[in-house]
Amino acid sequence: MVMMEKNLTTIADGLKGRDLLSLLDYTSEEIAYLLHFAKDMKEDMEAGNMPPLLAGKTLGMIFEKHSTRTRISFEVGMIQLGGHAMFMNARDLQIGRGESVYDTGHVLSEYLDGVMIRANSHEMVKELATHTSVPVINGLTDIFHPCQALADLLTILEVKGSLLGKKIAYVGDGNNVAHSLIIAAAHMGMHAAIATPKGFEYDADLLEKAKAIAEANGGSVFATNDPVEAVVNADAVYTDVWTSMGQEAETEARLKAFQGFQINDALVAHAKDDYMFLHCLPAHREEEVATSVIDGPNSYVFQQAGNRLHAQKAVLAALLG
Ligand code: CP
Ligand code: NVA
Repeated sequence: MVMMEKNLTTIADGLKGRDLLSLLDYTSEEIAYLLHFAKDMKEDMEAGNMPPLLAGKTLGMIFEKHSTRTRISFEVGMIQLGGHAMFMNARDLQIGRGESVYDTGHVLSEYLDGVMIRANSHEMVKELATHTSVPVINGLTDIFHPCQALADLLTILEVKGSLLGKKIAYVGDGNNVAHSLIIAAAHMGMHAAIATPKGFEYDADLLEKAKAIAEANGGSVFATNDPVEAVVNADAVYTDVWTSMGQEAETEARLKAFQGFQINDALVAHAKDDYMFLHCLPAHREEEVATSVIDGPNSYVFQQAGNRLHAQKAVLAALLG
């Protein structure tokens, strides 16, 4: 774990009122703080202690795409923190029929203490955050999924006891989930290996940024088109769907392009014996992952999904508190 040299109160003060759009906007210390806060909150909750840190506060949740985990974990998280959450389908809001992002942001700021948004366009979320005076939290865009990555690392931290120096292999599409995962791993000084098919690589600019962050923290990031090279000696092996929401027209082409990138018993034989299998879910069994792996003894996908709740409670309490 990255050392937190600043005192915790200084880090906590620096998080109040902030947006969470990308983990690139946060320091490694701030991410370490959020992970520790999430772990503490989970342990407190399991001990029956749930302080109402957001009593009387309301989170608006705007969705342009489907969701199970993000929607439910944010809503339950707000309830557990003593506040409220309000689900809004973007189609039903005036923004769905052309009201400007500028006006929407200003109006939402009059009612809400925070906004969580799942949107098609990361640029739109950035614009919304510019015009919203309360914290805006990214619940998935075309480029990033930061709350997912915090839950992912919390799960590895719980199982392995530390993150610094651990190896994570991401095999599959160089997508939103991959971007945030590798940036989070870099912040925590992990060794990250990314294997994608040609033409579906991790964003080149983000790769350079992730490498610089990792190197500053004693970790590393490398990208390859060879799944075996990525998975060798990994502590955690991660994949996501080959076709993300909004890319359905490309399904057939992607199925062909991703042949050889399935996480199966032959591939994970190259990882450490006690490797963890992780997937953000929803999953397609027998496409990106073999049933024997996702339903096998090394799979932590449900603990990982559960940790969305705890990671996001830490984010909510830190930003909205
Ligand atoms: N992993 C994730 O974000 O799941 P949902 O799409 O169900 O929210
Ligand atoms: N990459 C997937 C993640 C879903 C949680 C998507 O964007 O559809």
